[in-house]
Amino acid sequence: MYIPAITGTGVFTPENVITNAELVQAFNAYADKVNAENAAAIEAGQMEPMQHSSEEFIVKASGIENRYVMDKSGVLDPDTMYPALRQRSDDESGIMTEMAVDACNKALAQAGRTAADVDLVICAASNHERAYPAIAIEIQQALGINGFGFDMNVACSSATFGIQAAADMVRSGSVRSALVVNPEICSGHLEWRDRDCHFIFGDVATATLIERIEDAQGPHFEVLSTRCATSFSNNIRNNNGFLRRSRPDGMIDRRDMQFMQNGRKVFKEVLPMVSQHISDHMEAEGIGSDDLTRLWLHQANKTMNDFIGKKVLGRVPEAGEQPNILQDYANTSSAGSIIAFSKYSDDLEDGDIGLICSFGAGYSVGSVIVKRKS
Ligand code: COA
Repeated sequence: MYIPAITGTGVFTPENVITNAELVQAFNAYADKVNAENAAAIEAGQMEPMQHSSEEFIVKASGIENRYVMDKSGVLDPDTMYPALRQRSDDESGIMTEMAVDACNKALAQAGRTAADVDLVICAASNHERAYPAIAIEIQQALGINGFGFDMNVACSSATFGIQAAADMVRSGSVRSALVVNPEICSGHLEWRDRDCHFIFGDVATATLIERIEDAQGPHFEVLSTRCATSFSNNIRNNNGFLRRSRPDGMIDRRDMQFMQNGRKVFKEVLPMVSQHISDHMEAEGIGSDDLTRLWLHQANKTMNDFIGKKVLGRVPEAGEQPNILQDYANTSSAGSIIAFSKYSDDLEDGDIGLICSFGAGYSVGSVIVKRKS
């Protein structure tokens, strides 16, 4: 048996940023357009008019201020309202692969490693560009990695479930080194025309390199323990599953083919599940709340994270103990907790313990307890 360690992480951030002000302006223009087109039906009481969105509501309900996207023009065009991502030909590199390669190269550079040192790629994300061949195999080829790759999807928990799979394989010796990569094009499955959720998501890719601890070239995090749990729920669901959205121009355009959620129920049901999961995991490992230096939580909603942090630590977290990045990135599905880990972990000292936790559709929750080694 070998001890697995996280030796590098990388974040790919798209060039385009959308502020709440820009988003709300586009949404409201779309709502006005729909209301004008349906003025007679609204007048006759056959249809409810669409209401405007508001920046104040978005910040208050979620803590989100900005989001990055792979395409801004389509999302902000009231006549389109989805990202205008060109369908790639079979001979071209996939868009998820391009995002993933950038994040993987950053993780490898941080670890002082090259592709030749890696023998597994897990592409773990909440939506994949196609069913097969696996995106992970395309990423493997683009990086020049020997060995094998496969895709997995546990929605927002994909990264931590992927880390558990990789860490277990490193531990058993079936692989020596693994990249877990999370290219999340959430803009492709977000319903930008729905006021209740149009502000929630952004795009990003994260990568985590996991190696045998004795192979670490620099400061790293020993993976002390991982734990995953799932419990079926329809409260967060997407019935399409592919990146490309079908539109009224000749194709199907059903609401259930994009992200749908019962946000209030998610709030009520997921919070106790996650708090209990983290507490049980820590207790099983003999780790008390005072032993924990940092919590890197899934980034869906600030209120949710404040609640979980308080529940787990038994007090209001101090500044920096539970860093949020969702104000800048929005919810980036599985990548959120890894962005937080990547940006806010360098300052930990030898022996400090932290916990990465993701949660979301499924329902699913995954936690990874790590110890800093310098
Ligand atoms: N702008 C202005 N007002 C809005 C709005 C918008 N964009 N969207 C909704 N509202 C209004 C609603 O119409 C409602 O008005 P009413 O009280 O007059 O009926 C009010 O704001 C409250 O709406 P509600 O949906 O109950 O808000 P909320 O406080 O529950 O926040 C979420 C909504 C989605 C941010 C919140 O429920 C949440 O984060 N849930 C968990 C989500 C999650 O983690 N999902 C996982 C995704 S992977």
